[in-house]
Amino acid sequence: MSEKTMSGKTLFISGGTRGIGKAMVYAFAKKGCDVAFTYASNADIANEIIEDIQSKYGVKSRAYRLDILEPLTYKDVYKEFDEDFDRLDFFISNAIISGRSVVGGFAPFMRLKPKGLTNIYTATVSAFVVGAQEAAKRMQKTGGGSIISMSSTGNLVYTPNYSGHGTNKAAVETMVKYAAAELGEKGIRVNAVSGGPIDTDALKAFPNYEEVKAEVVKRSPLSRMGDATDLTGACLFLCDSDASSWLTGQIIVVDGGTSFK
Ligand SMILES: NC(=O)c1ccc[n+]([C@@H]2O[C@H](COP(=O)([O-])OP(=O)(O)OC[C@H]3O[C@@H](n4cnc5c(N)ncnc54)[C@H](OP(=O)(O)O)[C@@H]3O)[C@@H](O)[C@H]2O)c1
Repeated sequence: MSEKTMSGKTLFISGGTRGIGKAMVYAFAKKGCDVAFTYASNADIANEIIEDIQSKYGVKSRAYRLDILEPLTYKDVYKEFDEDFDRLDFFISNAIISGRSVVGGFAPFMRLKPKGLTNIYTATVSAFVVGAQEAAKRMQKTGGGSIISMSSTGNLVYTPNYSGHGTNKAAVETMVKYAAAELGEKGIRVNAVSGGPIDTDALKAFPNYEEVKAEVVKRSPLSRMGDATDLTGACLFLCDSDASSWLTGQIIVVDGGTSFK
């Protein structure tokens, strides 16, 4: 794709301050796309990103505070969005919880607890549902759009402590297919991009981070771990309506070959 192919379009992405979400904010802004994104606690980083991409790429950018453990607050965030932007073309459900809220969810099987598992379901599946519903209401006004849920290959490959996330990624991938089946008539395509292990804060929070990293490098035919920018190409492709206009209800796996070897 050539430069600035997304001028006049708007992306809304949750969790744009770090890791994969931040890489996505930059990749879309570089294409000339206006970008709205959310943060949980890093307001200063959000403001720095806004200033940086507005001056580097000449796009409009705004950030809003969102807690995906309270998915219905997406409705208020979208009201703020409506005051700043007059159209929505792309929505990426990307934010993920970590730390205290995943206690009992990020653990070996025998230490799993309903509360931690429920939190991960809320943040992964329910947040995707409400965020995508609100996105679809706006997209249908302009004839359609592209919705993406970030997923991970932790539902395909055994990853220690990851069963809570892995099962909920499987669930959100199925939800993506249901959404695709029902939103297609509005011109809205819905897909998931499933990444193998990517070197971000979320992965560094793993107690066995070094071990996981070494295993990924060994397992990948490309002999390296994923970088936060490695998932941007698949998302740009899914938002390019010329390139992917008949692609919906699918899971695109970008994993450096790690889930087969
Ligand atoms: N890392 C991997 O190996 C990997 C692989 C494949 C797929 N993925 C998926 O890619 C997505 C992004 O992962 P990442 O590794 O980039 O994560 P990350 O580095 O931990 O970043 C998480 C983002 O979510 C926000 N966030 C945290 N808690 C939140 C809450 N309660 N409500 C709303 N937003 C919240 C953070 O905002 P603040 O900065 O304000 O805290 C930050 O922007 C996730 O869906 C993840 O499952 C990750």
